Amino acid sequence: MACTIIVGGFFGDEGKGKIVAHIANTDRPAIISRGGVGPNAGHTVNIGEKSYGVRMVPSGFVYPDAELCIGSGVLVDPRVFLKEVDLLGVKGRIFVDRRCGIIEEEHIQRDRGSEHLSKKIGSTGTGCGPANADRVMRISRQAKDVPELQEYITDVPLEINDALIGGESVILEGTQGFGISLYYGTYPFVTSKDTSASQIAADNGVGPTNIDDVIVVFKAFPTRVGEGPFATEMPAQKSHDLGIEEFGTVTHRPRRIGQWDGDMARYSAMVNGCTQAAITGIDRIDSACAGATSYDQLTETARTFLDKAEEDIGAPVTLISTGPDITHIIDLRDIV
Ligand code: IMP
Ligand code: MG
Repeated sequence: MACTIIVGGFFGDEGKGKIVAHIANTDRPAIISRGGVGPNAGHTVNIGEKSYGVRMVPSGFVYPDAELCIGSGVLVDPRVFLKEVDLLGVKGRIFVDRRCGIIEEEHIQRDRGSEHLSKKIGSTGTGCGPANADRVMRISRQAKDVPELQEYITDVPLEINDALIGGESVILEGTQGFGISLYYGTYPFVTSKDTSASQIAADNGVGPTNIDDVIVVFKAFPTRVGEGPFATEMPAQKSHDLGIEEFGTVTHRPRRIGQWDGDMARYSAMVNGCTQAAITGIDRIDSACAGATSYDQLTETARTFLDKAEEDIGAPVTLISTGPDITHIIDLRDIV
């Protein structure tokens, strides 16, 4: 049995989706289940010519043999969920915990209409903050109360723990990043929930003793969308000169870009209980590494960066992403 949590180590958008997809393809999990806040998360999925911003379905959906779940801690917007299920053709293998909190249209209006949330904090405007507030006030609907969700309802903790007892593998997918955790991030410029590995376990009803691995994903050049402190932020001109530009999947806002932050990486690895780290965007450290699939193909510049990062993190870097394609990855997990 192996239960692996995958979380973001910086401010989100570290490339967790690709790491989840790669691990799923190699480890063949029975279940991929999502934790995290809700549809404020976004990952871009390219299918043929088209590009989709997926917000509710776990990014592991690209691995066709796993059952997909949304854990009880997560907020579900039924409109977004049903649209994505349709678009991605995952009906029949996707399930929602009956206790998930529901985002109503009114939550979205409150999020967007609030000067504090939409302007000062720079929220994604997806209703997550107000929906979590109502959940804490115990006036929310739950997934089981929504007629359109009936055919998707399950007990996610039972599904996952049964699979683990049966000797199967499970991936618990986090969303957002450590730096925007309600508890550990740059409060008040944070999302409406903790985003660390313990939260992702709790979101899915898996006890801490049943977690085998926590893979924290870091980005060689961290990014941040929305407001808030960003210690290593670069001037926009500098990232432009480096040829790095990124836009948010949900909000399409330009992402702020920074240098590697060793102190943040160490602290994040500590709180997350990191057992292994993944680093994405090594091709931005040295373009000669683009598409590399083995460690021998990495340049001296890239290796020096990785050695320093590993020292900062305090855990082995076992996955190195070298480009956007799913095959652009170096997997060192066997030799750990
Ligand atoms: P909210 O989660 O929509 O309330 O937004 C609060 C802050 O978290 C804003 O700065 C958002 O840009 C940021 N945020 C929320 N979800 C994500 C995510 O999935 N990736 C990156 N930033 C996020
Ligand atoms: Mg994202």
